[in-house]
Amino acid sequence: MSAVSGFRCMVCGRSYAPDEIDYVCPDHGREGVVDVEYDYDAIGRAWSPATLPDAPGMWRYHPLLPVDDLTAVPPILVGGTPLMDAPRLAAIAGLGRVWVKDEGRQPTASLKDRASAMAVVKAAERGIDTLTTASTGNAAAALAGMCAASGARAVIFVPESAPQAKITQLLVFGASVVLVAGSYDRAVDLSMDAAERRGWYNRNTGFNPYMTEGKKTVVYEICEQLGWRVPDAIAVGVGDGCIIGGIHKGLSDLAALGWIDRMPRLVGVQAEGSQFLAEAWRNGEDPLTKSAARADTVADSISAGLPRDRLKAMRAVLDTDGVFVSVSDDEILAAIPEVARATGVFGEPAAAAAWAGVRAAVRNGFLGPADEVVWINTGSGLKDVAAATRAAETAGVSTVRAASDGSDLDDALDELTGAR
Ligand SMILES: Cc1ncc(COP(=O)(O)O)c(C=O)c1O
Ligand SMILES: [Zn+2]
Repeated sequence: MSAVSGFRCMVCGRSYAPDEIDYVCPDHGREGVVDVEYDYDAIGRAWSPATLPDAPGMWRYHPLLPVDDLTAVPPILVGGTPLMDAPRLAAIAGLGRVWVKDEGRQPTASLKDRASAMAVVKAAERGIDTLTTASTGNAAAALAGMCAASGARAVIFVPESAPQAKITQLLVFGASVVLVAGSYDRAVDLSMDAAERRGWYNRNTGFNPYMTEGKKTVVYEICEQLGWRVPDAIAVGVGDGCIIGGIHKGLSDLAALGWIDRMPRLVGVQAEGSQFLAEAWRNGEDPLTKSAARADTVADSISAGLPRDRLKAMRAVLDTDGVFVSVSDDEILAAIPEVARATGVFGEPAAAAAWAGVRAAVRNGFLGPADEVVWINTGSGLKDVAAATRAAETAGVSTVRAASDGSDLDDALDELTGAR
């Protein structure tokens, strides 16, 4: 049996027993996102950092997860991604130390595999073999991949404007794909309606409470990789707010268990063209009642007019004495080659945005030379090569043409190496 003790509604605070609800607080319809609660005393009695089970990837932390047994875990390695020291990145930003947590190395190349793997397990517990989600692209690719690994069916709703690589992943994994002629927000509504009408398992972010629980494993890994010492800050791109909410949840779990002794400050980074949460935070607005904002940014994964997990995201920043920053599309694009050239890690725009946010947080004095910061590369740059190509060209590229017979090779090489 898992250590889940129940659910608590993020809107009204009402508590529910573990078997009382499937997704949300019934009093608030689709807005009634809930938090999964645990019996920390029981976990703490049974487990310690030194005795965590030897299960693969994210499942190493299953005593802190809402899973009863591991038989339905997709047979593909999710989690266990590296945390790498990045001294040149630290020097560029003027920080004490920077680590990169590289989620681009997940099986479908984004952090969303953690949540989608969890969705497959929870659907199997309920005996449901069709899962649906809407997505800006990565959650969709992740669900399609995890369903392919497990032999389940995925029905995916994506905006038809999603980058080609993400759509191709869906097609390759054999998902049933609904290309929505409209925004991500519209795709969410259609997917929710379909789930309700057809009895499919609903993986949608900000509705399914277990997605936070899957994503939180990234921060368990970060803390364990640092020897259960926490960094000063963790920076991540924010669209719906589920990842940053998951990071906060993971840290809160570890603090409640006494496995870490303080909370790092969370830096939530949004694009200027999609900054509902940054704006609400700056103006002290209630994210529950604030009306949807415009969403238009090169960082498609963090383009969300009405962030579905906005309550958990706001709590994450407020509770850790953190900050929301917003960065321009130009800053996001510039960050792609900047990190790639300093670390060898190639992030997609939404991931690079978090690095651009770190730079902004240093400029505005929130972070400084004494700080140790983790930048999470939430998705691989190969997800959106069109944006990356533009970014590399703007940053300057060293490319020359050469004839196949080598007749102009020396001239070409001289030009490349600046010998002329
Ligand atoms: C690569 C990447 N970074 C950041 C995010 C933001 O996550 P969230 O929507 O949970 O805030 C996403 C979400 O799609 C993503 O795919
Ligand atoms: Zn409620």
